Amino acid sequence: MVKLFSGSANPELSEEVAGILGIPLAKSEVVRFGNSEVKVSIKEKVKDATCVVIQPTSNPTDTNLMELFFFADALKRSGAKEIIAVIPYFGYARQNREHLPGESVSVNVVIRFIEAAGYDAVYTLTLHDEGTEGIFSVTFKNINAFKILGKEVYNYLTKEGEGRPKPDSAVIVSPDQGGVERAQVFAEHFFHTGNIDIAVIEKRRNLEKIHQSKALNLYGDVKDKVCIIVDDIITSGGTLIHAAELCLKKGAKRVIACIVHHDFSPTAPQVLSSEKNPIEKIFTANTIALKPEQRFPSLVEVSIAPLIAAELQKELSI
Ligand code: R5P
Repeated sequence: MVKLFSGSANPELSEEVAGILGIPLAKSEVVRFGNSEVKVSIKEKVKDATCVVIQPTSNPTDTNLMELFFFADALKRSGAKEIIAVIPYFGYARQNREHLPGESVSVNVVIRFIEAAGYDAVYTLTLHDEGTEGIFSVTFKNINAFKILGKEVYNYLTKEGEGRPKPDSAVIVSPDQGGVERAQVFAEHFFHTGNIDIAVIEKRRNLEKIHQSKALNLYGDVKDKVCIIVDDIITSGGTLIHAAELCLKKGAKRVIACIVHHDFSPTAPQVLSSEKNPIEKIFTANTIALKPEQRFPSLVEVSIAPLIAAELQKELSI
């Protein structure tokens, strides 16, 4: 028996996954107290069941994480046989090494907490650094969101009169050195073939100041091409905007972006929707719930619920 639970961070996505699987969401209650503490209660029988909890650990990250931990505890106490965390957006994934001496490597701590809370498996989408996978001692699955996003961008460009995008008319751009492998994965889903040359931007982050980076140089040929900037996360929008400006400066014809998680800082929607912003469309996934005021005309949100549902179907024989 499989029971699907939704945390409070992205109930629309959970509903969609439940709809695809054809199973109703199981009953639970999340209470927030005036002092900001949270309490989770399981409101139906789960004895000997495999229980799945869907909860992105996006902003408010710590609050959503605590809720995720408490779901595991409440399910264990209620006799669940196996507990799986589906974390569509994995908060703290970027704190994966000591960027400056003395810093915490926070993602390690978060993974230890998730395991200690009682989860037997963790599924996520397009984790910031694949190397983080090695830290998990429970089953871990990193679902590739570009399977859906790549198709969506391809369809958009085909419809927009470019014809079928080919490597001599379109180029995949990584906005930093760390994103090259990710851009190659996207390229495979976009062009349906491997061995594609991609362009890479040399980015320098100011490690002393948050959300500040510069695009220093671009390696690769973007002249007269449609540039598709591929990244895992947008927060301030700085990385993306600087990359787009540099592509245009080097002669790009159009700039489109495909970025999985819209983990927006408060000012990002305004910055990205400004008339000065040179990006034609920004394709993202619905791993994080968007507030109405965070939406803007060039932002396209694509549902990755079918990918989560397919993974659960395959693993749990639903
Ligand atoms: C960095 O390594 C990530 O892949 C993103 O490029 C970065 O986190 C985006 O942040 P922002 O939008 O604040 O530049």
